[in-house]
Amino acid sequence: MTRNNVNDSAAGNTACGASGSSRMTSRLQDTMIENSLRKIRHTLIFMSGKGGVGKSSMSANIAVALAQRKLRVGLMDVDLHGPSLAGMMGVEGLLEITGDRFAIPKPFNQNLGVVSMQSLMPEPDQAVIWQGPAKTGVIRQFIADVQWGELDFLIVDAPPGTGDEPLSVAQTVPDAKAVIVTTPQDVALSDVRKSIGFCRVVHLEILGLVENMGPFPCPCCGKRIEIFKHGGGEITALQMGIPFLGTVPFDPQVVEASDSGIPAFGGAAFASFSEAITRCVDRILGGLSDA
Ligand SMILES: Nc1ncnc2c1ncn2[C@@H]1O[C@H](COP(=O)(O)OP(=O)(O)OP(=O)(O)O)[C@@H](O)[C@H]1O
Ligand SMILES: [Mg+2]
Repeated sequence: MTRNNVNDSAAGNTACGASGSSRMTSRLQDTMIENSLRKIRHTLIFMSGKGGVGKSSMSANIAVALAQRKLRVGLMDVDLHGPSLAGMMGVEGLLEITGDRFAIPKPFNQNLGVVSMQSLMPEPDQAVIWQGPAKTGVIRQFIADVQWGELDFLIVDAPPGTGDEPLSVAQTVPDAKAVIVTTPQDVALSDVRKSIGFCRVVHLEILGLVENMGPFPCPCCGKRIEIFKHGGGEITALQMGIPFLGTVPFDPQVVEASDSGIPAFGGAAFASFSEAITRCVDRILGGLSDA
């Protein structure tokens, strides 16, 4: 099965089901998507089987680390029901729209722009109540109707699980690659295996696995603390035959940083965390043939 097959059936876009005008609109959107993707060198989707393991934190901090290397980066939040990237990146307000109706990513810095559902909602606490096809439509618009420009990396933050959002990204961006995020404990790792299975079914190449919230030294006595155990990510990656991108330690101050809209990477107080993110970025770049 090709990704396009999946696309057609999942989005209900079969030729016999679509009216003439909706077929034309969809073709026009296909062209706009192709135009956007032509300018994007790599798309990485951060996903996990389990919620709360740090997909948004890893995608945000890795995006910042890539941008610091003078790479042009877009950060796209497809967690449509629970967007958190705008808050974590400290970008506020609604997206601006150009005269020819393209949305402009919210600039985090010169090399990094952010698009999140949060930046499209006039009411921040408004709930998004959408089913599959509507979500696919918005994700396609996030590519077609956003002025991403020339990008080295489009980093996509997905909600947990193997539902509409990662599927829509896999269908819309044929050469997207997955970065799977997990914590080291067994319950998260069993969900990782489902994510790996999902990627294999939809032909989404897996760039590797990041183990987040790994061991860290106690801030008071320096004793090693393993909140979620340790090492499970690397063992799972080995067992499942995918690259291991590294362990990022738990750091209590990271919670504070992300709540205040300042990604921890590069901050003076986050040396171990930043070193770990740097190692992951090195391995990500090493895993791409033309990075
Ligand atoms: N290495 C870390 N050390 C300490 N706290 C962390 C770390 N990584 C993430 N966190 C915190 O854990 C919480 C969950 O992280 P995050 O929102 O990134 O997870 P998620 O997988 O994106 O969640 P969801 O499934 O809800 O989208 C946040 O409060 C975040 O600040
Ligand atoms: Mg998240």
